[in-house]
Amino acid sequence: MISINKLRKEFDQGVVALDSIDLEIRDTEFVALLGPSGCGKSTTLNCIAGLLDVTSGQVMFDDADVTNKAPKDRNIGMVFQSYALYPHLKVIDNIAFPLKQKGVSKEERHKKAREMAVKLQIEHLLDRKPTQLSGGQQQRVAMCRALVKEPKILLLDEPMSNLDARLKIEIREVIKKIQQELKVTSIIVTHDQEEAMAIADKIAILDNGRIQQYDTPEMLYQYPANLFVANFMGNPPMNFIDAKLETAGEKLMFTIGESSVEVSGQLLEKLRPHTGRPVKLGVRSHQIRVGAEPAANTLPMEVQMVENLGKELLLSGDVHGCHVRVSVDDTSASGRMKALVGDSEKRVYLRFADFINVFDSETKVNLVL
Ligand SMILES: Nc1ncnc2c1ncn2[C@@H]1O[C@H](COP(=O)(O)OP(=O)(O)OP(=O)(O)O)[C@@H](O)[C@H]1O
Ligand SMILES: [Mg+2]
Repeated sequence: MISINKLRKEFDQGVVALDSIDLEIRDTEFVALLGPSGCGKSTTLNCIAGLLDVTSGQVMFDDADVTNKAPKDRNIGMVFQSYALYPHLKVIDNIAFPLKQKGVSKEERHKKAREMAVKLQIEHLLDRKPTQLSGGQQQRVAMCRALVKEPKILLLDEPMSNLDARLKIEIREVIKKIQQELKVTSIIVTHDQEEAMAIADKIAILDNGRIQQYDTPEMLYQYPANLFVANFMGNPPMNFIDAKLETAGEKLMFTIGESSVEVSGQLLEKLRPHTGRPVKLGVRSHQIRVGAEPAANTLPMEVQMVENLGKELLLSGDVHGCHVRVSVDDTSASGRMKALVGDSEKRVYLRFADFINVFDSETKVNLVL
């Protein structure tokens, strides 16, 4: 298990890169650190690896406090954001290098290096030097080198940033498979939410040196803790509709422009204490039903675009000044929907699913968790 307690990292000139990071990673788990550029992902990873001194806080591997241990004493395999390969060594010797340090015979370490190279689709490059490789090929060499020594902990910093979209998907499947075979506790840094969701058991979302939420991909997607996480997870992104929570007699309503939608079901008790607050309704494109006629508790949308994505239609348009995307399963409705585009006489009417997320517009916190 890796536990990080109250980790803080300040650089010169008062740059606070990490502010009280707590993270617990169980054995054999695969965790992704996800967030925008500059949020502190690499700094976190480098503190775990021992490449950076921490300002305060603690890094534990099982029961051992490794906060002040040298990187070489941590039994870590690491792939850096800028892959540092040995320029004078052939690819095969770059990969086999950690085994050489361990005193493994040449024959044995070349055999292992070759096996790993096959898995990462670079076996045809083994006799080249790093300068004769593309960026993506160099990244895979670095990955082979990190994996070949079968480390206890694997740390990957944007290991696939230089691969094309298709190879990215192939290689991330390979990494996941090797990680499961070797049962190695792993942390991957990425700014790609799709990659994080595909590969990781749990994701820590960082912003500004702080963890915003740490949970499974499913939980982050369905129940984001705040607007930052909600904005980051999912494609197409979550829709946000500005509303106000108001009472109408006994009822609680979302007031949206001139429309109002009754709050019902499990949301009612959660939201009642926040009556009067300005909120943002967080609604995924598939949490909306589309109708042709106005009805109670529906919202009018002026359709601006209809895209046929093959398995579904994506309608986008304006709902009281907010841009909204809705998916419609029935692609056979394409012609009918396209006829609505730009026709203000024939709007569509949206109805929300029973559960949606509701964020306080000012504190940005999810009010329904
Ligand atoms: N050596 C350094 N000296 C001063 N500031 C630094 C140093 N290294 C990083 N920082 C700052 O710390 C913050 C976090 O940087 P970090 O490299 O961890 O970001 P990141 O999340 O990995 O971003 P990216 O996705 O761009 O790689 C940034 O504001 C960065 O400018
Ligand atoms: Mg980085």
